[in-house]
Amino acid sequence: MNNKIVLIILLLAAAGMQAQYKYDNRYESKIDSIIKLMTLEEKAGQLNQLAYGWGWGPTVKSEVKGDYAKMVAEGKIGSFLNAVGADLTRDLQKVAMEKSRLHIPLIFGFDVIHGFKTTFPVPLAEVASWDPAIVEYSAKMQAKEAAATGIHWTFAPMVDIARDSRWGRIVEGAGEDTYLGSIMAAARVKGFQGTLGNENIAACVKHFAAYGAAEGGRDYNTVDISERVLRETYLPPFKAALDAGALTFMCSFNEIAGVPSSGSKFLLSDVLRNEWQFKGFVVSDWNSPGEMINHGFAADLKDAARISITAGLDMDMESRAYTAYLKELVEKKQVPVADVDESVRRVLRVKFILGLFDDPYKYCSKEREQNFVMSKEMQDAALKVAEQSIVLLKNNGVLPLKDAYKKIAVVGPCANAKKIPLGSWEQYGDSNDVVTVLEGIKKTYPKADVTFVQAVTITDTTKAGFDEAVQAAKDAELVIAVVGEDGHMSGEASCRASIDLPGVQNELVEALQKTGKPLVVVLMNGRALALGAIDKNADAVVEAWFPGITCGTAITNVLTGKINPSARLPITFPKVTGQIPSHYNHKNTGRPNDPNNHYTSGYLDTDINPLYPFGYGLSYTAFKYGTVKLSKQSIKATDKITVTVPVSNTGKLEGTETVQLYLRDMVGSVTRPVKELKRFVKVNLKPGESKDVQFTINEEDLKFWDINMHFSSEPGEFRVMVGGNSRDVQQETFTLE
Ligand code: BGC
Repeated sequence: MNNKIVLIILLLAAAGMQAQYKYDNRYESKIDSIIKLMTLEEKAGQLNQLAYGWGWGPTVKSEVKGDYAKMVAEGKIGSFLNAVGADLTRDLQKVAMEKSRLHIPLIFGFDVIHGFKTTFPVPLAEVASWDPAIVEYSAKMQAKEAAATGIHWTFAPMVDIARDSRWGRIVEGAGEDTYLGSIMAAARVKGFQGTLGNENIAACVKHFAAYGAAEGGRDYNTVDISERVLRETYLPPFKAALDAGALTFMCSFNEIAGVPSSGSKFLLSDVLRNEWQFKGFVVSDWNSPGEMINHGFAADLKDAARISITAGLDMDMESRAYTAYLKELVEKKQVPVADVDESVRRVLRVKFILGLFDDPYKYCSKEREQNFVMSKEMQDAALKVAEQSIVLLKNNGVLPLKDAYKKIAVVGPCANAKKIPLGSWEQYGDSNDVVTVLEGIKKTYPKADVTFVQAVTITDTTKAGFDEAVQAAKDAELVIAVVGEDGHMSGEASCRASIDLPGVQNELVEALQKTGKPLVVVLMNGRALALGAIDKNADAVVEAWFPGITCGTAITNVLTGKINPSARLPITFPKVTGQIPSHYNHKNTGRPNDPNNHYTSGYLDTDINPLYPFGYGLSYTAFKYGTVKLSKQSIKATDKITVTVPVSNTGKLEGTETVQLYLRDMVGSVTRPVKELKRFVKVNLKPGESKDVQFTINEEDLKFWDINMHFSSEPGEFRVMVGGNSRDVQQETFTLE
């Protein structure tokens, strides 16, 4: 290698830049020759993914279960999920490589959602960093750990836009906003896949599509949205992930307007394969082809196999429909063999791209597994990410904490909980590795007398433990209450009809407040909560989400000001559950809300404003915005417009502000949202320092799915809004000629 190339590679590595995968034709002739050799059974086998079971770790004996060994040897399985560990994956792969007729390697998939064993903050928390670099870094480290245990492929990122916090899976994604969600989708794909080297794994963008729009926020429920909403709100993060090089997609469980995604030719073929030119493969969700029977869309499993394969669903996760029926369906001419071949081609292509034909055992290194899983490097990474995910929601001056306290009361069901901070999809995360908030506080204040009272469980309805907690608070100089949801109150099939704090935790915080002692409330939860009572009673409110194993250290670092918080909400926090949907980018309606006019869009029993708006979060320093200036008042479609705003740090500490730019198209051929995030940037400022923040907007930012069903911009007036959250903005206007 010449010096110049070495220098470029080093520079790219230093900048943390990852080249994304670009398809070429290099494997196609090899794939052709393999397909020619395959029987119909072997083709169906390639498209079959089965779950291996559960169990990883030095104590788990590696042994290939008899049935699976036989099926792999007969070419009836192309992929496993949940088969992990360097030894087990090697043993399974050996069967495929040595005993099967065509020696096609297996691909091993696993849900690395926020870590394999080293548990990072839940995905929603990471997005609260509003920092794509930290999100990419997190995915990269998670991939490195997973790759050390034989895993080739993660079923992540989940990029479902979610605007209803009752839906438990909101915790797995990027929240309510399409632009933020798209940026984070791309960051995660780049992090997982990197250069597809030895420490990277393939990403699987899921759940295609609109799974987050489930009616009533109830998991697996019906979705009925217009093509415009689908195109503008739900599909862009998938496209962004694809453009970042995502090798695989997973279809969703739900139907959209009567058509389940597992059988949607429109989604899987028209949009994904043809319009977007996706070259990788789509895996079903768990038995989702089979669920088309319950949907009333397939008569039986054979019908489901026919519908899915012809729609463009490549790999079947666990419904076993393809292995049972594809051969018969092709032989009876109910499914063209070309459809089967196309799916096989896509699966083989990804296996080639991952290098599995060159080295089927590339991730099966016992040594790497032993040295890297839960290594110091991984734990440091998890801490770095957690610190950037914590949002300061309220502070009347009690934070950052002082250097010394004589007596501290730490109260609440999440304060010393080992399991809760892991959240859902914790996989091989071990609660014994979790640093609790109590442990973090004790370590930081070794000389203080720290009293812990749990007082209640998450869902308790009894107040029997309140007295002890109140007494501890009375005796202390500072009270830290750590309350929230259980780790499994969000995640798959974990939806809530109410997003209030569960049990009697609001009452507990109120009782603590009555002691008059400085009261800091730390929250752990996987969705937006209705926090009116907490906001009223606490002196400071800190949203920690489920921060992962480094929980207590990260939270204490934020409480003490070692880390000045800079995270922002990726979802609106409404005042009450009934305000849902409360996303900031709603439509104006014909009767926009006016509290003084009864006949406008509102509620009788609450106003319509959220408690904490999208994009909101505080810092220990203060930021001031100067006047927003536009480079032009009027532009042509080919022009760019520069928006400049001076931002100053007027406080006493160094801090980072997240400057956000929103747009509104004032009149369109179809109505447009009242504002839409189009740009954001994090700016670090020393006390007294000012910077001019500049954003460039171009025609792409003005486009929407117009009345003629195309993405286009339309002439007219646009409002530009700039500020530190979606509510507190200054505005200017320009015209598109
Ligand atoms: C979930 C997917 C997940 C799959 C495999 C399904 O129940 O919906 O998100 O990837 O299981 O674990």
